[in-house]
Amino acid sequence: MNGTFLAMFGAAPDSVGEAPARANLLGEHTDYNDGFVLPTPLAYRTVVEAGPAPASRRAETVFTMHAAQFGETVERRPGEPKRGDWSDYPLGCLLELAAAGHAIPSLRLAIDSDVPIGAGISSSAALEVAVLRAVRALLDLDLDDVAIARLGQRAENRYVGMQCGIMDQMVASLGTFGQALFLDTRDLVTELVPLPAAERVAVVHCGVAHKLTAGDYNTRRRECEAAAAALGVESLRDVGTDALDRLAALPAPLGRRARHVVTENQRVLDGVAALKAGDIARFGALMDASHASQRDDYEVSIPEIDALADSAKRHGAIGARLTGGGFGGSIVALVENGAYEGWLARVLADRPAARAI
Ligand code: GLA
Repeated sequence: MNGTFLAMFGAAPDSVGEAPARANLLGEHTDYNDGFVLPTPLAYRTVVEAGPAPASRRAETVFTMHAAQFGETVERRPGEPKRGDWSDYPLGCLLELAAAGHAIPSLRLAIDSDVPIGAGISSSAALEVAVLRAVRALLDLDLDDVAIARLGQRAENRYVGMQCGIMDQMVASLGTFGQALFLDTRDLVTELVPLPAAERVAVVHCGVAHKLTAGDYNTRRRECEAAAAALGVESLRDVGTDALDRLAALPAPLGRRARHVVTENQRVLDGVAALKAGDIARFGALMDASHASQRDDYEVSIPEIDALADSAKRHGAIGARLTGGGFGGSIVALVENGAYEGWLARVLADRPAARAI
């Protein structure tokens, strides 16, 4: 995927940054509630090559960006409204760098990626972190990996308009292949937890693109804030599973939304303990419970995802659940290595619109 810059701009790039996609194993819609998450990087990646703008383009600040996946080259300038396309993500990151006090000159960026879009595996965070890494290297900026994650999240919150939490940017920036990143989103403390060697993290797209427009996602976020306010806590992180009966008294649908977040936080803690103890069956049961909670309490699943998760289980997955923001996209399942090919064939026979990611 390197070589795009040279092909586009006729010069070698001065720096390169890359970042992976992710699957989240447990802890969905907990990150904007100060809660716990357990994502892991996937082998898909986005590569961004960067270089200064030619001298003729430096009188005003202009960012020339090429996206190989879309075959598009655009010029973006600070102060422009968002366009609603891929170029909002890099521009948002550059604007956040400037807002953080870094002098950002005119630049050229060449972007290439094999991360499927709309699969719910966070193509956006991979793009943000890859852009920020490329620009960090280009301008020799003093930014650590947590600072990169925070800038990426802010770009999405403030420029793109998606009120996401910080899970995706943190795993894109700090994740390690073959390990789960146990993250406490309240203080951004992380711990790498090895994944079992005998099982595979399988991701299967249901065939309906996940489209996280601000709409439904931001609504869920507001519902959580309303539930926390009604309970008199700063965030739902401050409510434990010992207080579930208090949630039942909240007006609908706040009680169900809060119950998902509170029980999901506990599932992450239990899941980390299960992984450390080598209790894969327990981990799988927690994934299944997480799916049911997303489907029934948080209502972020769709029938195609539910049917896919059912099929995954019926054909032998140890656990299966909706991964990512929801409303389409993919399931993540834990499957024994040796059983994977047969399992996948049977699931795809059940669900012809699905595809392995
Ligand atoms: C999206 C957001 C994340 C997180 C998940 C749901 O991927 O970007 O911050 O909230 O949804 O867990």
